[in-house]
Formats: sequence, C-alpha cells, structure tokens
Amino acid sequence: MPNFEPDHLEKLAFAIYVAKGTPEEEASVVASHQVKANLVGHDSHGVIHIPEYCERIDKGHIVPGAPFDIVSETDSTAVIDGNWGFGFVVTEKAMKMAIDKAKSTGVATLTVRRQSHIGRLGDYATMALNSDMIGLITADSGAGPKAVAPFGGRARRLGTNPICIGVPSDLDGPVVLDMATSAVAAGKISLARNRGEEVPLGWIVDKDGNPTTDPNDYYAGGAILPVGADQGHKGYGLSFMVEMFSGLFTGLGFGIDPKARHNDGCFISVYNVDYFRPLKEFKTSVKEFAEFIKTSPPAAGFSEVFYPGEVEHITEQKRRAEGVYIEDETWRQITELARSLQVPESIINN
Ligand SMILES: NC(=O)c1ccc[n+]([C@@H]2O[C@H](COP(=O)([O-])OP(=O)(O)OC[C@H]3O[C@@H](n4cnc5c(N)ncnc54)[C@H](O)[C@@H]3O)[C@@H](O)[C@H]2O)c1
Repeated sequence: MPNFEPDHLEKLAFAIYVAKGTPEEEASVVASHQVKANLVGHDSHGVIHIPEYCERIDKGHIVPGAPFDIVSETDSTAVIDGNWGFGFVVTEKAMKMAIDKAKSTGVATLTVRRQSHIGRLGDYATMALNSDMIGLITADSGAGPKAVAPFGGRARRLGTNPICIGVPSDLDGPVVLDMATSAVAAGKISLARNRGEEVPLGWIVDKDGNPTTDPNDYYAGGAILPVGADQGHKGYGLSFMVEMFSGLFTGLGFGIDPKARHNDGCFISVYNVDYFRPLKEFKTSVKEFAEFIKTSPPAAGFSEVFYPGEVEHITEQKRRAEGVYIEDETWRQITELARSLQVPESIINN
C-alpha cells in the first residue's frame, strides 16, 4: 500500500492549485485543509477531491481569489458572501472574524453563503477551541444536488448537512464532535467506489429504496439514509434543523437545481468561555468529564470509550508517523492532472 508523507501531498496539492490560477495564499489554505483531513482519517475529505475542485474551477463553480464580502455586520454578527471562492478560504476567514468579534462581545454569530465545499468542519471548530472558545458550525448544500433521503422517504431531498462543535479543554487532543447528519459523509461512498469496496448495510438505499451495500447503487439514483438507522427520524430531524441554520437563515435557499454549483451555506457561532466561566476551571472540568466518561468499562467488541474527536487525534499521531495511504486510483487521477498542468516531476514524486 503506497503511504505518502503529508508534506509531499501538501506541496503537490499546492502546486496543482497554483497551476490552476489560485493565489498562493489560498492554495496553501486549501492544500493544508485537505491533507489534514487525510491525516485525521477522513480520506473522504482529503486529496481525493483535488481533481473535482479543479473541474469546478474550469466550470467557474469555484472562483480562486474571489472577494470576501461583508454583506452586513454588527459587533457580534456578520453576513458573509464568499462570491464562490474556495469554501476552505472563505470559512477560515469567517471563523477568524467570529473569534475576533467574540474577544470583545463574548458571543459572535456569522452566516456565510455563496462559497464552495468547506471540507472537514472540524478544522474550523478547532480554530475556535484553540482561541479558548466553543465553536459551533453547520453546513448545507442550498439548492445544490442532494444526497440524503428524509426519514420515511426514498428520494434525495437533503444534503449530508454536517454539524460540528469544538470545546476547549486540557486534554491532549481537541474535543470536537464533527458529524454528517447522514449515516455517512457522501465522500465515503466515492472512496469505497474508488477502493472497490462494499459499504456497510444501513448507509444507502438503491433507486427503489432497497437497502444495498454496493456504492454504485448510490450513483445510479439511490440515496444516503439519515444518521440513526432504525432511529433515523432523529438524524433526519437534526438534518432538517441544520438546513434551517445553514440554508434558510443564510438566505441560501433550498430545493434541487441540477445546474446549481456546489454551495456550502454555513452557520458559525462562537462562545468565549471566559465570559461564562473562568477558562482554566472550564478546561479542567472538560478534561475531568472526558476522563470520567472513559472510566466506563468497554462493551463487548470495544477496546475503550473515546471522547468526540479522540479517534481523529489518535489517527493523526499514527499517520504523521507512518504516512497517509492513498489508493492507486486516487493517486493516478491526481498525478495525471498534475502532469497535464506541467507540475514538475520533482514535486509529483517528491
Ligand atoms: N463540507 C461538507 O459539506 C461536509 C458534509 C458532510 C460531512 N462533512 C465532513 O465529513 C467528515 C466525516 O463525517 P462523518 O459523519 O462520516 O464522521 P464520523 O462518523 O467518522 O465521526 C463522527 C463523530 O464521531 C466521533 N467518533 C467516531 N468514532 C468514534 C468512537 N468509536 N467513539 C466515540 N466517538 C467517535 C468522531 O470523533 C466524530 O466527532 C466530517 O469531518 C464532516 O465535517 C463535510
């Protein structure tokens, strides 16, 4: 299995985006978010997307260097128009802005519309917790193509509508709940398809609403199910509410427009802990709470209890040491693209 140094992947991604006309500062933000996703184990949001993002640049769906417009603003709120920039770039700026506002207001809330894919939400919540704030972020797809069937339905009506909350603590790893409200993030279906693997039962249904393990059935008109399997009404309810925050509250809209660009509407809210409880005390409490939770003896088939974000933290340590596995098909697509853009072989092969 080919394992790659994260630095190699980041330099290659950077070179490809720059060759596609992306300003260097933005290319570096996009490359670093994508490789970080690979490092923490979310390969579905990693370098696998490079060819797709480049296609979107070609179609004008992603606009490198797009202006970051503040549509309206108060001391503790803002509405951002990303003008179809890279979602990573726009949302990173928006999260920085929210953190800056909450330094003097205690709480800040922003909405973001008209930007492309923001990738792994955990990165933005981590920015908040690194600034000693709780960070909440949700995303949806506006009128973009849909992936998820509502509970009780079989046709796609929702995005995978992720929600993410990060909390500062004294633990080694960041406490971050970062989850699609669907049974699985859509990228994990394409990853399984690229790897020639089946997906677990309960992730998707085929075009007739029948449960299936073949990832190809999803692309042939099937749908992803909401999180929760036989309790899917709760996952569906969460997804519905994510749509309220990221689609309707942002003014992005909803529905299915087959020609719509990929559009991650975003809701961001940050809470400056010190305004509510002494920071040091709170961070200690969160650590003690996680340690208390972890004292639960493991259930059959489990080795231990993890706090939200711990699995990603452990995976990151491992992958930093051992490198990142990239499946042959993904590597073939990336290197073919890089060569077509005259990226030097020294960068492709490190
Ligand atoms: N930008 C977008 O449009 C978009 C859409 C959907 C998902 N995503 C991203 O996709 C990524 C994957 O989402 P997902 O729902 O497949 O994640 P997941 O199911 O792998 O993990 C969800 C959460 O569960 C926690 N977790 C995982 N295993 C655990 C265990 N054994 N014990 C305790 N906690 C555990 C993780 O730390 C994480 O917080 C996320 O980073 C999300 O932000 C992005």
